[in-house]
Amino acid sequence: TGAITLDPGYKNSGSCKSDITFLDGEEGILRYRGYAIEDLAEKADFLEVSYLVIFGELPTKEQLEQFENDIRKYTLVNEEMKNIIDGFPKTAHPMGVLSSLTSALTAFNPKVVNVENEKEMYEAVCKTMAKFLVIATWTYRKMMGYPLNYYDNTKGYVENFMHLMFELPTGPYKQNQVVIDALDKLFILHADHEQNCSTSTVRIVGSSHAGLFASISAGVSALWGPLHGGANQAVLEMLEDIQKDGGDADKYLAKAKDKDDPFRLMGFGHRVYKNFDPRAKIIKKAADEVLATLGVNDPILQIAKKLEESALVDEYFVSRKLYPNVDFYSGIIYRALGIPTDMFTVLFAIGRLPGWIAQWKEMRVNKEPIGRPRQVYTGHPLRDFVAMDKR
Ligand code: CMC
Repeated sequence: TGAITLDPGYKNSGSCKSDITFLDGEEGILRYRGYAIEDLAEKADFLEVSYLVIFGELPTKEQLEQFENDIRKYTLVNEEMKNIIDGFPKTAHPMGVLSSLTSALTAFNPKVVNVENEKEMYEAVCKTMAKFLVIATWTYRKMMGYPLNYYDNTKGYVENFMHLMFELPTGPYKQNQVVIDALDKLFILHADHEQNCSTSTVRIVGSSHAGLFASISAGVSALWGPLHGGANQAVLEMLEDIQKDGGDADKYLAKAKDKDDPFRLMGFGHRVYKNFDPRAKIIKKAADEVLATLGVNDPILQIAKKLEESALVDEYFVSRKLYPNVDFYSGIIYRALGIPTDMFTVLFAIGRLPGWIAQWKEMRVNKEPIGRPRQVYTGHPLRDFVAMDKR
């Protein structure tokens, strides 16, 4: 056997060829299918971008309408899924519930497991886009003890997110266009990010020919961790902790720099962006707009601003190229929109869904081999077996 190259965390190893997302971490560039993230966030909507990411081209008006209608065909979720959600305690974290429910979808949609041709692939894509949104919001309804809601086929996709989350039998939920637009933008900014931890997970699980739902369920679990998508929740919790502790941002900056303290500044640093995170720039602007329009005056924001200002001129952060990432600001918007902290990472998952689908599809279409990294063994050499009474 040839020598094995060791690369913990795959910092320098490419795992696949991909046509989906271009990322230049030094220059702070992010493009989906060749289109700049700045343009897409400004000029397109989330379903349009989902279509682009999954199928490779911006849709025509007709294609987009067809896509939206085809998604609507599958928005009913099997009633028996409710038995599964019933079994969870109200205190269960929504990401754990979401991962389980996504996996359970396989049992009710066995066709999505064995995608054999383009038509089945298209159906699988639409089913996943439809049902994942519904069950993602069900995790919130469960947590709140509210009756589960159904997709309203007269409304758009992002509008439906708000409807599914907040509409109650006691009265209609009043849609707010500022909120819809902000969410739309956030979902677009999260839609894909090449071979990050959850996407690599989706591809490697899928490479064994596990189905789409099973692969995405694994992606949800990977996203949950605080070093990945869970950071948006962790950022808000950190800001709340700082507030409770008297609001001294510099004290926490010092903790983050202290190598004997495991504390890290949540929402700072990125594996590939070493200059700035282009998504963070767009979100920061959106956050300012949303807060101004909704008239939110949140003391947590002052702490966030102070942390950001101090870190950006601090030698420790500057020399290590640690800048605020997408998760630093997204939580601030979600909070302003009235979304509970435990749901933040679920929103990340809804946004990332088209990316996971596109990457899974690309991996299957390209007939990629099963993912199977090697290792460098560091354990014992051969040893003589020791009988139980001699140990
Ligand atoms: N606070 C304090 N120090 C940090 C931080 C931080 N947030 N991030 C990195 N460092 C230090 C780290 O201690 C190390 O220092 P030294 O060279 O002295 O040992 C140096 O910077 C390099 O860090 P690393 O851990 O080797 O970098 P990585 O590429 O393995 O990790 C990261 C990237 C995003 C996991 C990390 O920066 C981090 O833990 N950040 C906080 C969590 C976070 O915000 N995650 C969201 C990432 S963006 C969206 C997403 O993926 O979901």
